[in-house]
Amino acid sequence: MQAVKTTLTRLLGIRVPVVCGAMAGGTNVRLAVEVTQGGGFGFVGAAFIPPEKLREDLSFVRDSFPDLGQKPLPIGIGFIGWLLDTKEEAAKQLIDVVVESNVQALWLAFGNDLYRWIEYARTTSAGTSSTRRPLIFVQVTSVDEALLAANEWKADVIVAQGNESGGHGGASTPSTFTLVSEILAALPGDNAPPVLAAGGMANGTQVASYLTLGAAGAVLGTRFLLTPESPYSDVQKKTLLAAKSGSTTRTLALDYARGTYGWPKGIDGRGIRNKIVDDIDSGIPHETVREKLTKGTQDGDADYMVTWSGTGVGLMHEIKPAKDVMAELHTDIVRQLQRSQTLLQD
Ligand SMILES: Cc1cc2nc3c(=O)[nH]c(=O)nc-3n(C[C@H](O)[C@H](O)[C@H](O)COP(=O)(O)O)c2cc1C
Repeated sequence: MQAVKTTLTRLLGIRVPVVCGAMAGGTNVRLAVEVTQGGGFGFVGAAFIPPEKLREDLSFVRDSFPDLGQKPLPIGIGFIGWLLDTKEEAAKQLIDVVVESNVQALWLAFGNDLYRWIEYARTTSAGTSSTRRPLIFVQVTSVDEALLAANEWKADVIVAQGNESGGHGGASTPSTFTLVSEILAALPGDNAPPVLAAGGMANGTQVASYLTLGAAGAVLGTRFLLTPESPYSDVQKKTLLAAKSGSTTRTLALDYARGTYGWPKGIDGRGIRNKIVDDIDSGIPHETVREKLTKGTQDGDADYMVTWSGTGVGLMHEIKPAKDVMAELHTDIVRQLQRSQTLLQD
C-alpha cells in the first residue's frame, strides 16, 4: 500500500496522515500505540493524572516499540490549558515527565494562556538536550488563534478543529471545511506549519478530501472511541453505534451536569443529546442533574451519561481494533486520491 506524502507524514515519520485526537477520557496509551503501529499517530488526552501514572504509561509505550533506540516515543500527550492552570506545580511535573520521556509530541488546547505551557515545555530543565523537545501541536478554533499559534508561538502543527468535532470546541466555530480553508488562506507559504483538519470525519474518503483542500492531515476522535482499545464504556460505545449525525448537539449542559465550569469563554462541547441536556435546558438545578448523572453512569443509563461525539458518528457502524480502523482509512485515502486523478482530462 502506498504511503501518503504530506508535510505531516514527513515531520512525524509516518505513512498515513491520520492522527488520533487527544481525547481526555476517550484515549489511553494502548489506543495511541495501536494507532501509531497502524501507520498514523496516536495521542493520549491526559487531563490530570498523577505524574507517576504518566511515567508508567510511557514506559509501556517504550516497551511497545522495542527497536526505537534513542528516537522519541512515537505518540503524543495532550493537555487542557485551563486545567493545567489550576494546579501549576503538578502541571509542571506532568510536562517534565513528557519531556524526560522523550515523547514526540505535545498537544495543547483550551487555555487562557497556552503560551506559558508551550514555553515551559521548551525550556524546562527536564529537556536536557534539544532532541528532547516535543513537537508542539496547538488546537485552534478560529483564524485568529491559528495566526497567534503559528506566528507568535511558533507551533509546529496547527489543529484546525471545526464545529462538527466531538468533545470540546468553539461554540461559534465554523464548519471544519470553512475553518481549514480560512486558516490555509491566512497562512500561505512553505514556512507555515502543517495544518490538520479536525472534526466530523468517519472515513478515508473524507480525509482525502481535506488533503486535496490543502490540509497536511486529519485528526479523528470519535471514530477511535469505537475501538476495543478505547476506555469508553460498552454503553457509551453502543450509544455511539445507534447515533445519527443529528443525535449530537453543541452544549454546556453536559459540563454543568459534571460540574466542569472552567472552560475559556466561547467554548462548549459536542455530545449525544440526552435527558441531561433536556433537564439543564429546562432549568433543573445542576446539582440535581449531577446526582442523576452519577447514578446513570453507575447503572449504565445512556440518558444520564456523558457521551461526547462528533457529527461523523452517523457513518460509524462497527467497533473494530484501532489497527483495522487505520488500515481501512489508509486504503480509502489512497483509493480516493487515485480516483480524484481520473477527474482530470488531457
Ligand atoms: C471524548 C472526547 C474527548 C476529547 N478531549 C479532548 C481534549 O482533552 N483536548 C482536546 O484538545 N480535544 C479533545 N477532543 C477533541 C479531539 O481531540 C478531536 O479534535 C475531535 O474529536 C475531532 O472530531 P471528531 O470527534 O468529529 O473526529 C475530544 C473529543 C472527544 C470525542
